[in-house]
Amino acid sequence: MLTDNFGRRFYYLRLSITDVCNFRCNYCLPDGYQCDNDRDFLSLEEIIRVVRAFAKLGTEKIRITGGEPSLRKDLPEIIAACKAVPGIKQVAITTNGYKLPQMLPSWVDAGLDALNVSIDSLDPKQFHRITGHDKLATILEGLAMAQQYPKLKVKVNAVLMRHFTSGAMNQYLQWLKHTPVTLRLIELMQTGDNVRFFEEQHVGGEQIKQSLLSDGWLPEIRSKTAGPAQEFFHSDFQGKIGLIMPYSKDFCASCNRLRISALGKLHLCLFAEQGLDLRQYLQSDDTQPLTEAIAALMTDKKATHFLHDKLTGATKHLAMLGG
Ligand code: GTP
Ligand code: 5AD
Ligand code: SF4
Repeated sequence: MLTDNFGRRFYYLRLSITDVCNFRCNYCLPDGYQCDNDRDFLSLEEIIRVVRAFAKLGTEKIRITGGEPSLRKDLPEIIAACKAVPGIKQVAITTNGYKLPQMLPSWVDAGLDALNVSIDSLDPKQFHRITGHDKLATILEGLAMAQQYPKLKVKVNAVLMRHFTSGAMNQYLQWLKHTPVTLRLIELMQTGDNVRFFEEQHVGGEQIKQSLLSDGWLPEIRSKTAGPAQEFFHSDFQGKIGLIMPYSKDFCASCNRLRISALGKLHLCLFAEQGLDLRQYLQSDDTQPLTEAIAALMTDKKATHFLHDKLTGATKHLAMLGG
């Protein structure tokens, strides 16, 4: 099992398979994102080698991210290949939901265990303002389809922004009364690309937490292996709420994940480091040099992220690393 100098265990790998995205979410890509589509993303074969090496080091869960992972035509093959690696117990994806109605059956057939869908507003106009797309109805249709699969774990992500202080929260609460899903509210993070946007839009998760507690929401007991979300439930609501508050004091203490970028770099944290290029180790089936390189890097993992420090510019936006 991979561990670091602070006793944290890493059994969860977030694997970005493309940094291309068909949405233009204002918090992620405020000025749009130019990229050339022919970039040299990890091939299916390279992905299999990465996952085999991590599984040998104790990784049990793979989350496939992007950009938008469904833009890769071989996504079903990638899901199936990850699932087939001995030791991998769970394969999940994080998606903007654009292709859900069309593609979900093929992902489930490939062995998908869990699905996180970003839905940053339940108001179609506001959704359009945030994402640049008019697709809320399609995505909600896809979400309803996903909920028909009893074994598929489904969560919804929404980034906390100003509109939560004027109506958006109530709209989500109404929805959660009758929708058995976990809604995770994610505190907006400042990146190299969204500095002004962050200043205008950041809403603290703590204020949302206090209002939930005063409305009778109760904190779930956290398991030792739980990731960074704090979850809340309420007997009048079918849905649950998870709060992801990266600026809170102990956020990084429960870190259980490592990240691979679409270009094959291993990142110990979402923020402020350049990543170790694994490509050189991915050209043969021998996983030994790769597992040694990964294990050797672990002592470099820092106790916490650099969100409180001056940004170095290393993390321009999260589309590169899939959040
Ligand atoms: P589960 O696997 O279901 O627990 O979800 P997850 O939170 O790991 O996955 P998801 O891709 O849905 O993550 C939601 C968002 O939370 C990410 O896109 C990030 O914005 C944020 N997030 C997740 N992990 C981290 C982390 O380690 N550090 C920071 N700063 N933010 C994170
Ligand atoms: N702050 C917080 N979350 C972000 N995401 C992307 N950029 C940011 C940011 N600056 C997250 C959103 C989305 C996921 C893929 O990445 O939660 O749902
Ligand atoms: Fe939005 Fe995700 Fe695309 Fe960023 S990568 S623009 S958060 S859908």
